[in-house]
Amino acid sequence: MADDRPLLFFDSGVGGLSVLSPTRALLPAAPIVYAADNGGFPYGTRSEAEIAARVPALLGRLAERFDPRLIVVACNTASTIALAAVRAALDLPVVGTVPAIKPAAALSATRAIGVLGTEATVRQPYVDDLTARFAADCLVLRHGSARLVTLAEAALAGEPTDAADYAAVLAGLLDQPGGERIDTVVLACTHFPLVSDRLAAAAPRPIAFVDGGAGIARRVAHLTAGQAWPDAPGPGTAMFTAPRPIGDGLRASLGRYGLNHIAFL
Ligand code: DGL
Repeated sequence: MADDRPLLFFDSGVGGLSVLSPTRALLPAAPIVYAADNGGFPYGTRSEAEIAARVPALLGRLAERFDPRLIVVACNTASTIALAAVRAALDLPVVGTVPAIKPAAALSATRAIGVLGTEATVRQPYVDDLTARFAADCLVLRHGSARLVTLAEAALAGEPTDAADYAAVLAGLLDQPGGERIDTVVLACTHFPLVSDRLAAAAPRPIAFVDGGAGIARRVAHLTAGQAWPDAPGPGTAMFTAPRPIGDGLRASLGRYGLNHIAFL
């Protein structure tokens, strides 16, 4: 295998950066293409049919263009709806992102956990299944928030965001019946770990936030173990599906993740 084939990360927007970050820490020599479907953003308010039609087709085009050695679907919404279809369509390893309900259940002392995701993710049978398998003895409350996705995009674009907005998102979970017992919250949208500090600061009490980023990074390292990497990887590519202006704030944030080359599909 040629040693310059990249890892391809895919999300609707900047969320997948929360998965890219721990992966780069484990595999610093990996060439990176980060694809953001800004033309389809946001995914969380779309129907299952829209996601199922869009994501495999788009990943097929991206795979043809970049010849990646592995794809990370760094988006819970796309993964919980379309992962099987993506795997069926592509002849290369595909790592998905699923809500970290198992580690959250292992951590919770109160046996009450929250799942904060997009509206599309929190209604998936996949979440029912994970809950039944790994958190059967827990109260599991869910809340879907498109607002928090927008807040994370704004934060990464360098725009100010308001603490009251983060508090209001958390209230959607914690104010449900039984929510006062929650001690652990699954960040089941890859955008959310990008603002976990702000969520923690806005929380009415100490809460543990759990996401799948580190586990996905370990999985990518495992699947690529023994493969050759370039001696000096070039700048990572941030690829956008729609030719919209990319502001200075977002460019600076992308640069902090090693993505110094901007391109459009
Ligand atoms: N980052 C995505 C996720 O993990 C979706 C955000 C959105 O486009 O609504 O679910």
